[in-house]
Amino acid sequence: MCGIVGYTGKRNAKDVLITCLRMLEYRGYDSAGIAVVENNKVRVIKSVGKIDNLEQSVSRYDLSTSTIGIGHTRWATHGKVTLENAHPHKVGKVTLVHNGVIENYKEIDEKLNKYEFKSETDSERVCALIDSFYNGHNEIEAIKKATSLLKGSYALGIIFEGNNKLYGIKKDTPLVLGIGTNEYFLASDISAFLKYTKEYIVLDDNEIVEIGNSFNIYYEDKQIYKKIEYTDYDLEEAMKNGYEHYMLKEINEQIDISRKLYSKYINDDNFSDKLIDFSKYKRIDFIGCGSAYNASLIAKYFIDKYCTNANFYCNSYMASEYRYTNHYFDKDVLTVFVSQSGETADTLASLRMCNSEGVDTVAIVNVLTSTMAREAKYVLPMLAGPEICVATTKGYFSQSYICSLLVLNLMYKTGLIDKDKLLSIFDEFKKLPENIEKVINQDYKKVAKSIYKSEDIYYIGRGIDIYSSFEGSLKLKEISYIHSECIGAGELKHGPIALISKDTPVIALLSEFSVAEKTINNINEAKSRGAYVVTIRKESINVDKKLSDCDIVVPLTNEFIQNLLIIIACQLLSYEVAKLRKCDIDKPRNLSKSVTVE
Ligand code: F6R
Repeated sequence: MCGIVGYTGKRNAKDVLITCLRMLEYRGYDSAGIAVVENNKVRVIKSVGKIDNLEQSVSRYDLSTSTIGIGHTRWATHGKVTLENAHPHKVGKVTLVHNGVIENYKEIDEKLNKYEFKSETDSERVCALIDSFYNGHNEIEAIKKATSLLKGSYALGIIFEGNNKLYGIKKDTPLVLGIGTNEYFLASDISAFLKYTKEYIVLDDNEIVEIGNSFNIYYEDKQIYKKIEYTDYDLEEAMKNGYEHYMLKEINEQIDISRKLYSKYINDDNFSDKLIDFSKYKRIDFIGCGSAYNASLIAKYFIDKYCTNANFYCNSYMASEYRYTNHYFDKDVLTVFVSQSGETADTLASLRMCNSEGVDTVAIVNVLTSTMAREAKYVLPMLAGPEICVATTKGYFSQSYICSLLVLNLMYKTGLIDKDKLLSIFDEFKKLPENIEKVINQDYKKVAKSIYKSEDIYYIGRGIDIYSSFEGSLKLKEISYIHSECIGAGELKHGPIALISKDTPVIALLSEFSVAEKTINNINEAKSRGAYVVTIRKESINVDKKLSDCDIVVPLTNEFIQNLLIIIACQLLSYEVAKLRKCDIDKPRNLSKSVTVE
């Protein structure tokens, strides 16, 4: 999604803006731009493609004295990827950058007939709208009047010609003020300015920040004072640290994250009270998008398997469906929102819907400054650190880990497992870091070489392996652009087997002992149609060598975390395939990290 930055201070604004924009590259973008005030005039410079292109364009100008400016990475929504549509937009005396979607921009456009627009964007209309209310000295009033007419979501960074200040306002999409020593930043998230400061204030909806030599925040005509917060996010953590890609670094970080999660959520061989107790509810709805939805299916799987007899009912929903479906809510219902970014539009809208129904809400969330973390009744931090690669790995890992712990806690609290059993399961959680290391240290290049030229790859599995297949298949398609589907192994012969021909790769996941024989029969069916079979299995499930062309074996552990080892193998296989195909692994085409539009 688009990223916003703004700066005012003593440094060279263009340099700071470009550095900050680079830190937001992970969000996904297709054009970029900056606007700086140089000799009291606003200079806008934009380019299509990577920030390197922008840096080249910027180097053609002498901007050595500029100390105030705004910048943007655009992920196209309204209008194509063109220079005209790139931000910042300048209309009259107003220049702005915008993240979000203005739903009534056509209506606004009709009222602005004195303006001629260069772009197709809603953002340029917002710029004109502010200009139409601006009389040269009432900046806050102009912003207020204009934004009161907007329907939709926005975070805006604004500068006015002739006024050496920076302004910001937001609604339903994040905007953070960074506070350094005699310098200030505006950004879509704190990672943008971590290099300069760790102090920040998260702006709430409709607050306006005005930044000059100091800053003031206004809400409904009054100045307000907000607590300055401090982040312990480390810039090093957000950098590649010698890894070729963020994805690889983040896969490796899963070792350490499993330790952090263990020490936060399990204390002295018992569950920490930081973990929400599900046992006072009867129905639990999990809600998420993409990989977060896939992770939530792990909770559903175990609750269905072990807790339905105790009258617990669980379902996992895609947030984009949940928000538009009718639900019956009462005090027995708990809703759990799973989101790495904490900003995903559909998940956030579902959370708000549940909050307004008065139902209890929990957010399993990584970014603790995010809107979901602030609006949910309870928060379960994912402790994954900044996730930069657009395709999630450690985020999914942490979500799935927490889902398993929540179910185990429920089982323990309701007597479905006793203490001895629980302790033996905890032993496996303790061993997880070393088991992850074993999975990471295997050779995936060889397997990748045998399948990377294929244009279709199928994942199959049964039981929990279907849910892991969803994630494995998603990871593969999003970073390698290979068409991939996940098929319940038992469903193959009901249609999809028609797609299997000579050398079609079929990746079979085998971690569920009770149905392994049946999956092996299905592998046989695929093999006899010519499939090239890759098995990813736990070590206690054996597969005939003649059946599997490539065999990846992960250590045996407890079923509540076995899927984590299987999925890490899938992540690494996808990574190697994408690398062989020379894909832009950390920034796959058309994707963005934080999906703040519907
Ligand atoms: C896939 C991926 C996405 C996200 C989804 C939800 O690798 O990263 O499918 O999982 O967009 O994002 P969050 O967790 O931020 O709500």
